[in-house]
Formats: sequence, structure tokens, C-alpha cells
Amino acid sequence: MCGIVGYIGPREATPILLNGLQRLEYRGYDSAGIAVVNGALHVRKKKGKVKELARLIAESPVAGQLGIGHTRWATHGAPDDVNAHPHMAGNLQFAMVHNGIIENYAALREKLIRKGYQFTSQTDTEVLVKLIEDVKSTTQLSLDAAVMQALTQVEGTYGIVLISHEDPDLLIAARNGSPLILGIGQGEYFLASDASPLVEYTKQVVYLNDGDVLTVRRSGFEIKSLDNQLLKPEVHELEMELEAIEKSGYDHFMLKEIMEQPESIRNCLRGRIRLEENMIQLGGLSDVMDRLLAAKRIVIAACGTSWHAGLVGEYLLESLAGIPVEVEYASEFRYRNPILSKDDVVMVISQSGETADTLAAVREAKNRGALTLGICNAVGSTIARETDAGVYLHAGPEIGVASTKAFTAQVTVLTMIALRMGQGRTITAAEMTTYLQELADIPEKVSEVLKLNNDIKALAPMYRYASNFLYMGRGYHFPVALEGALKLKEISYIHAEGYPAAEMKHGPIALIDEFMPVVMIANRDAIYDKVVSNVEEIRARKGSIVAITDEGNHDLDRLCEKVFHVPHTVDFLMPLLTVIPLQLLSYHVAVLRGCNVDQPRNLAKSVTVE
Ligand code: G6P
Repeated sequence: MCGIVGYIGPREATPILLNGLQRLEYRGYDSAGIAVVNGALHVRKKKGKVKELARLIAESPVAGQLGIGHTRWATHGAPDDVNAHPHMAGNLQFAMVHNGIIENYAALREKLIRKGYQFTSQTDTEVLVKLIEDVKSTTQLSLDAAVMQALTQVEGTYGIVLISHEDPDLLIAARNGSPLILGIGQGEYFLASDASPLVEYTKQVVYLNDGDVLTVRRSGFEIKSLDNQLLKPEVHELEMELEAIEKSGYDHFMLKEIMEQPESIRNCLRGRIRLEENMIQLGGLSDVMDRLLAAKRIVIAACGTSWHAGLVGEYLLESLAGIPVEVEYASEFRYRNPILSKDDVVMVISQSGETADTLAAVREAKNRGALTLGICNAVGSTIARETDAGVYLHAGPEIGVASTKAFTAQVTVLTMIALRMGQGRTITAAEMTTYLQELADIPEKVSEVLKLNNDIKALAPMYRYASNFLYMGRGYHFPVALEGALKLKEISYIHAEGYPAAEMKHGPIALIDEFMPVVMIANRDAIYDKVVSNVEEIRARKGSIVAITDEGNHDLDRLCEKVFHVPHTVDFLMPLLTVIPLQLLSYHVAVLRGCNVDQPRNLAKSVTVE
């Protein structure tokens, strides 16, 4: 949430900052701004998307080889020009961008107002800027030392970057809870909230840790702790490629990412399915496998789409590995005194690896002695680093705010964990052979499902003006129904709810009439007949039904507006196929409604505030 960038080096900063902000725009797009040092500090900021800022800069250019930039997802104060970052010290000496929330900002603001400071914005960020200014002027400390001292008075989360016109060879950054990555070039350095703005300039990066304060000059950089101890940085090599973060001819990142799923699932499986040895190998879990196998219970904590993947994981782990599983909203988990012991495993799922609530769940679980496992996509992300062990998705960067390929990769990883845990225990060798072959065939079957794209696009006009939708499924398909409903509401703003199909008669059936479209996931599994009864009940009340079923099943044709067929596989792998038509349906309906599919209103991809 909120994207921040910084540059120091020999090149013009502005194009690098604007380019970086465009790459980070998925983190927030309420306003954007930059500050560049060139004798004095030059600030340009504007409500709206980065392109509005670019337009402003085209009219009123700024030059300089040191700069910072910000794209905002508003927390404190409306999204307008004044609240946009960067924020300046009252004496215009330095400028700062911030991602996070200063929780004690109200008390600090009061104190500063009593000292005579005036505020132009409603942001918590300006309070931190003025606090640093106050520390600096009362102590005569250097800017980096004043930053350190001011931060000791702050409660909350921050990733901050500062520049000052007094020193055109200095960029300062600090982190607590909000991600920051330093990119190391030849005589130049880049800072960003994630790796996407860095990848076209350098592959050498340092991930800042909580409590780090970074000072960068063209000649080198230093990382210190808040108590001024020099720390030894670890330099990592980025594996990301530039084309992975570009649209490559697609109209939207979301469509590109839906279409990439055969490849992203293949990458997720690579090296982990061992068909010849009839086993699953998960290198990231090998050190903790004994403890995982001995666990009495697994608690899965996650948010949004990742939480839905967690629900599929519950079905998978209970049925394939025979272990009790509870799935928690990460945001609720730590506030309800969870009962955890050393025998429990807390597994968190997060595409970004930066979601504040999920990270808080990891820390809570660690405090209570549980083993923590992370299922993350973003390599080097905070959750990936703070968990005891984990499995990366290897799905490649996901840019569209609505998660698609991360969901299928998360379910793939959970399937592999369940199979690995059941290996030699609940799963026989013969079953394992079948399961592994079916899993290996999934990318090909996903490609088959994607061929439905044109048919789904042709159906979308029928639902363009719908105001409500119900999604239903049972067993493994109940979480898929939740995910289908979430996709539709996120990007098309149509109200949609997901339900277990059998619950329909306990409430949602009251909503059904000819204006209520229902998406029903109905495969021929053990409870198929019951789902067909639910379809009949909806039809009897004139509901318009779109069904997703397995190939060769024509029972539903007479009852439904449209039936989409997906290839058959074992029941527990079906969610990887049935979710795809739902992703495509939401995409095409949203496009027809003229919605901004990749940047839906009010949402952000990486929610780094609580
Ligand atoms: C936000 C995004 C969702 C995502 C959720 C969890 O709400 O808009 O798409 O599912 O955060 O994100 P994570 O990165 O932890 O999976």
C-alpha cells in the first residue's frame, strides 16, 4: 500500500522516479508526487494517477540527480493535492515520502502545534516530517541522526525516504513494517517498495529489515540500527525479468495473468513433483518436515484471495494428510487470544508477502512458540523472511490488483504440501502415482479451460447490468464460489456473494428471482446429485444459472442459461480448473462495464496497513 521510490546517481532522477511510480501504481493510485534536489527542493504532486503527475511535470519540468517519489493509497486525509506526498519540512529544507501509519500521530501533532508548528495537510506523514524538523533544530543533529532520534518517538509502521537540499549527495531511508528495497547500480542507487521498479536497472538488491536506517551517497551506502550500530547488509540477486512486469500485448495485467496460469502452475510444480520416485519434494520445508509431520494441528492465516486458497487448503490437508486444520482471517487471528502451542503449525499465505495483518499473525504465532510456514509469491518479502520455513509460489510477479495466478499457485502449493504430508502415511503408493500424474497434467488442462475465453466473453453482455450475483458450490468448490464472488465484486463493483450450495435454503433462496444470476459449480463428484437438486430449486424460482461442470456432463443443459465444461481430474484438483471460468467471467463483465480492471477503486494490491 502506497508505493515509494528514490534515486541517487548521475542520471536525471525524474524519468526514473515516474517510471518507478508507474510500476508501483498497483499499490495505490489516489495521488502521486515527486521531489527532486537541484540547488533547492522542487516538488510536484497531484491528485489522481501517475499519468496526471506526468502531465504536470511535462508542463512544469524538474531537473536533478537526486529524488524521491510516492503513489498514495489514502489513510489519513482525503486523496487531494495537499495530502499527496512528498511532504516538506516547514523551512523547505527536506522532503519525505512515507508508506505506513504513524499511530501516535495525533498526540505528536498536538505537541508540535503547541510548539508553534503549523500543518497544511491532514496526513500522519506531515507530523513525522515536522517531528524530524523539530528534533533537528533543537539538537543541531545531522539529518540522518535526527531521523533516528525522531523515529524512537514514533509508534506505528513506516517505510520512509528523505532528501534535503542541503546535501545533494544524500538519500536517507528507514523501515519499520513497510517494505523497502535498495537497488545497487554502478555509482547509483535506487530505492523502492518492491523489486518491480528496480529490475530494469539492477539485479543487486538489499532488503531493508525493520529498524534499519539507510544512508546512501553516490560513493556507497551504510545501514545502521535505530541505536546507531552499524549493520552488515546482505546483498541478494533478483531473479525477476523485465518482461514479467509488462503487459506483453494484453489489454490488462489481469487478463495476461489469467492466461499465464498454465505456465505459472508449471513453474510452481517444477522440480517438486518427482514422478519417477513417486513423491513430492519441497526443499523449503525439508528442515522442518519432522516437526510438521508431528504437528497436532495446522492453523492457516491469510487475507482476501489468499484466505480462499487457505480454505481449499483446509479440505486438502484434512482429506489427504489427515490433520486437523483451522483457517483464520489474519486480521482477526491475533486479536482474539489464539490458543497455540509448540505442537501447532501456523501456515500463512500471502502473494505479496507484505500484508500487514498476515505479518502480524506470523509474529503472534512465533511469540506463542508455534512453527511458522510462509506460502508467498514475492521472493525476499518480509513474510518469506520472517517465517521459519516456507514454499515459494514461483508464479512470477502479479500486478493486477485482483489476484488470479497467485490463487491457482497457492492451491497448487497447498496440494503439494498435503500430498507430501500424506506420503507414506494416509496415501498409498498406487494413489500417489495417480495423484502425481493428475497434478502434472493440470497445466495442460488449464490451457484447455482457457479456450473457453471467447464463449465467456460472449456471455458477459447478458450480465453487464446485473446488480447482484450468487456463487455456489460444495466441498472443494465452496471456496471457489467465494473466490468467484470476490473477483466479480472487486473489479466490476457488482454485489456478489459466495455460499455453500446447501446453505441456499437457509437464506439466499429468498433472493432468487429472474433478476438474480447464479453461478453454480457442479462437478460429478460424491455430492453431485445434491447440487443438481439445488440447481432445480433455483430454476423453479426463475433464477438464471451459469454452471461450471466437468466435460461430458449434459444433465444441466436444460436447467441453465449456459454450461461451461472443464476437463476432468481427481476431485481435489478440480478447483484449479473450475476457478478459471469465474476469473474470466468477472474480467469480461468488468471490461464491458468500463471498469478499471487492473486498478479497481479503493483497493490496493499490497495492504501494508492494518
Ligand atoms: C488485497 C488484494 C487481494 C489479496 C489480499 C491479500 O486485498 O487486493 O487481491 O488477496 O490483499 O494479499 P496477499 O498479498 O497477502 O496475498
